[in-house]
Amino acid sequence: MESQRHLFQLPSDLHYINGAYMSPLLRTSEEAGIVGIARKRNPALLEPRHFFEDVERTKKKFAELINARQMDIAINPAASYGLMNAIQNVPFKHGQHAIIVSEEFPSGHFALQRWCKENNAPLHAIGPVAETDGRTQTWNQRILESISIDTAMVVMSAIHWMDGTKFDLEAIGNRCAETNTFFIVDGSQTVGALPMDVSQYKIDALICATYKWLLGPYSMGIAYYGEQFAKGIPIEESWMNRSNAMDFSNLTVYDESYKPGAARYSTGEATHLIQMPMLEAGLDQIRSWGVEVIQAYCKNITSSFVTSMRELGLFVERDDQRAFHLFGLRLPDHLDTRALLAELKSNKIVLSLRGNSIRVSPNMYNDESELKLLTQIISNYL
Ligand SMILES: Cc1ncc(COP(=O)(O)O)c(C=O)c1O
Repeated sequence: MESQRHLFQLPSDLHYINGAYMSPLLRTSEEAGIVGIARKRNPALLEPRHFFEDVERTKKKFAELINARQMDIAINPAASYGLMNAIQNVPFKHGQHAIIVSEEFPSGHFALQRWCKENNAPLHAIGPVAETDGRTQTWNQRILESISIDTAMVVMSAIHWMDGTKFDLEAIGNRCAETNTFFIVDGSQTVGALPMDVSQYKIDALICATYKWLLGPYSMGIAYYGEQFAKGIPIEESWMNRSNAMDFSNLTVYDESYKPGAARYSTGEATHLIQMPMLEAGLDQIRSWGVEVIQAYCKNITSSFVTSMRELGLFVERDDQRAFHLFGLRLPDHLDTRALLAELKSNKIVLSLRGNSIRVSPNMYNDESELKLLTQIISNYL
């Protein structure tokens, strides 16, 4: 497939290889947002069904992307909110602990830390070995070995947000099922670019911010909550999540029952007249390309770059143990990384620095020539 840059409105001289920071806006998403703005011009045209129909359609499209049911999807304002909704519903038994991977994104880290403090439960952060050889394999092994019947939950990103380390979700999910451990996954850096299957990986909750690989708006999240959370207590009580919510004239016949599945975890005003159509446009585009195609495209445009970097002695994780849409390039300690970033910036290459690695995160709007330019600049700099 050719670069899909024409579907976006990036400046023509900009090399934006930073989808893990935030995706650029699709033209279709921008148009959908503008139509969304206009919907409030005349509220007389807004019928009760308009508060729910787009939400349900968007949930369905997301559900299909992760092999879940539409009714198990909820709308959040951010990943932090979605994670909190899951974590606070994990019951605590005396003597239990919780597990996280080291340097997990703060949205998961802080939510889990609060649960641990409230329950006086230890929080175990599982990290990799220092050596680069076999790093991902041993990290996965360490995670698996740390899970026991005393583990209340494992909270982790599907791939590491800093360098794209691929966690063995299937093995971890199986281990969690064996030990009755809740498996809560942050898919913000994964879903939309890498295949995801909540059923195959036995994930209990999967939370995603929408502004990265889902090509959606900022200030929104979308999440899956499985069977384990079906009777949980949400962190707020939106009337929209009650079974009688469509019946606007009878809302004070306070209906105690929630809509089935995960609906209870949706934020208030989840209709999002402007943002929901933007997210739907993002999901439509991803579904039309196909997630496997996105991953293969990213692999294709970055493979010569990765080969050159390895020839220069820089560490990039083995191909089968990392993602292709997000990966780290570990820089030598002596290198002045800030100066390198400045040099990249002056060449209009936009990337992120995470820890001591450069994080490269392309998508369908990039092409191989941009990675060639990046190769040249890094080679000159070393
Ligand atoms: C793994 C991960 N989760 C979540 C987020 C965003 O979190 P929130 O929606 O809570 O701001 C990011 C942003 O970089 C991320 O990398």
